[in-house]
Amino acid sequence: MSLLSLKNVSRHFGAVTALSGISLEVPQGELRALIGPNGAGKTTLFNLITGFFRPSEGEVRFSGHSVKDVSPEKLVQRGIIRTFQITEIFLDLTVYQNLEIAVETAKGLNLRPWLSRRRRREVRDSIDELMDTLRLGRLSNHLAGELAHGDQRLVEMAIALSHEPKLLLLDEPTAGMGDEETQRMTELIRHLHNQRGITILFIEHDMAIIFDVADRITVLDNGRLLAEGTPAEIAANADVQAAYLGGVK
Ligand SMILES: Nc1ncnc2c1ncn2[C@@H]1O[C@H](COP(=O)(O)OP(=O)(O)OP(=O)(O)O)[C@@H](O)[C@H]1O
Ligand SMILES: [Mg+2]
Repeated sequence: MSLLSLKNVSRHFGAVTALSGISLEVPQGELRALIGPNGAGKTTLFNLITGFFRPSEGEVRFSGHSVKDVSPEKLVQRGIIRTFQITEIFLDLTVYQNLEIAVETAKGLNLRPWLSRRRRREVRDSIDELMDTLRLGRLSNHLAGELAHGDQRLVEMAIALSHEPKLLLLDEPTAGMGDEETQRMTELIRHLHNQRGITILFIEHDMAIIFDVADRITVLDNGRLLAEGTPAEIAANADVQAAYLGGVK
């Protein structure tokens, strides 16, 4: 059974058809890239999977269950976690405070008026582990708003991981990053896939990264599914070449 399954999904915004007749299966443990020219419908697809928007037609299933009528918050609890095309973190809080809120929320502790010593230690251990994985320890007391863009994205990634994703959706995780930051993020994605077995669907424009890490690639163009296959198959696909070359004027 696929972890994520879309059947004939469409989404209209007034007269605009952002997605049309998309069927897609992402098996457990796969690292899938989602690519396509600007406006192809990639972010809209994420919005449908995470319950931010509802499909106009068709169905999204996660772990065999329809996500219809399930709130975005409930889907987070079920393990569908996303990061955004524009980084979303608390800029006027420190890195540590950002992670503290995330961990307490993920553990359902954020509304408690006080935490027992054991709970506090649990929260602190989780934060330390996230800091280690993301190598953010040195920035613990820095304000998130003062970090380099790449480090902000790592904080966002740490927040996503605090929710223990089963399906991680990354919207252009390396956008606006320098070479070194891009390499770090790429290594991290590979680590989450290989070492932790997290199923990942990521939107990316950088072909070198996609061909380096993706198991399979899905190509959207103008709201339609243009092609799907291994990196080698996609590289050789004439329709994909036409869509991309057609976009360069
Ligand atoms: N909330 C909305 N209201 C109206 N139109 C929308 C909305 N969200 C997306 N669209 C439209 O749907 C289409 C697909 O947009 P989407 O943001 O999904 O593309 P994308 O593939 O993520 O593009 P990019 O690579 O630029 O991020 C576009 O024509 C966009 O204008
Ligand atoms: Mg987008």
